[in-house]
Amino acid sequence: MELDVGALRGDTPGCDGKLIHLNNAGAALMPRPVISAVTSHIALESRVGGYEAATEAADEVESFYAKAAALVGGRPDEIAFVDNATRAWQGAFYAIDWKPGDQVLTARSEYNSHMIAFRHAERRFGIEPILVPDTAEGTVDVEALERLVTSRTRLICVSHMPTNDGMINPAIEVGQVASRHGLPFLLDACQSAGQMPIDVAELGCTMLSTTGRKYLRGPRGTGFLWVQSDWLAKLSPMTLDIGSARWTSIAEFDALSDARKFEHWEANIAGKIGLMTACSYAMTTGIPAIWQRVQLLASRLREIIVEIPGFSVHDRGARKGGIVTFSHAAVPAERLMMALRQEFSINTSVSATQLTRTDLIGRGVAQMVRASVHAYNTEEDLDRFAEALTALARPA
Ligand SMILES: Cc1ncc(COP(=O)(O)O)c(C=O)c1O
Repeated sequence: MELDVGALRGDTPGCDGKLIHLNNAGAALMPRPVISAVTSHIALESRVGGYEAATEAADEVESFYAKAAALVGGRPDEIAFVDNATRAWQGAFYAIDWKPGDQVLTARSEYNSHMIAFRHAERRFGIEPILVPDTAEGTVDVEALERLVTSRTRLICVSHMPTNDGMINPAIEVGQVASRHGLPFLLDACQSAGQMPIDVAELGCTMLSTTGRKYLRGPRGTGFLWVQSDWLAKLSPMTLDIGSARWTSIAEFDALSDARKFEHWEANIAGKIGLMTACSYAMTTGIPAIWQRVQLLASRLREIIVEIPGFSVHDRGARKGGIVTFSHAAVPAERLMMALRQEFSINTSVSATQLTRTDLIGRGVAQMVRASVHAYNTEEDLDRFAEALTALARPA
């Protein structure tokens, strides 16, 4: 399927003016159908009342599960709607019945909040988080991962596309290791969902977490968790409420048996309809075509940046996605990001390397600018970006 970039941009109010949005890994621009789904529901709530609006929109709300499931190749009863990718991930992670000495294997590029959760669980339950080495290319070393599996390993966690790197981790191979050892595999698809085709069966993951606002172009404060049906019964959510469990008698309750046991009763209904619409919009646009264009634009962007004196690109991995990270030898990342925004109307973000990029810290790079493309960006956007970088790096 060919992408109609003009139509994509026509659907995107953020493309109407002079803004160049290269912060899609932060939050992408919502298309009109998503904006209209969210605002119409809020308008309905304001006219008839929040609970009454949810009843009127019950079919649309319910269709969220089928749409999110179709996006990742799962089943509707394997989907839970939550407020962001971290909540989705935590829902799965803290649902494991951790015992002292249990080991979790993870990549060095794992998301910072997950690293905190591992350390939290280390203090709270006595688990042992193990960082698997990277290959020379920077992706998780699958052979090393397999060598590190022991009788104490309880979980494997890997980010499909890390937050501050263009690379794509070999998720399928990680899934094969997990399945060979009968281990659950929690895949963080926060940056990859909506950007590239996702098929949970092919990936071999048992749980997958993602967010609405990034490459899916949904509203902020939305996300979902997918849990493979065989694993649902093995996971016990850390928290339950009247939405995720039935209170059957004064002393008894039954947790739901499907993935909705990871939800809370109260939810952002407009956001849920918005995320459903975003999943639908991405699938109608064609995720393989989005993926092809994102890769093309990102690799062009990397070429452009390295041609400008003083700049280095830091993305690793043989296969790369839409995230482009770079720095300048003399101008701090924060200053570049602010000037791009204020002087050139170009949105980017700053990635603090923290634990995940010890290689950069070793080279004196503690912060990078992150420019992330989506399918609605154009070659002209990239040319204007190059002009802006050239101007900003010029000695005063
Ligand atoms: C790779 C990755 N994982 C997880 C997250 C957390 O997502 P959220 O902010 O929706 O909780 C992010 C956010 O930037 C991310 O980039």
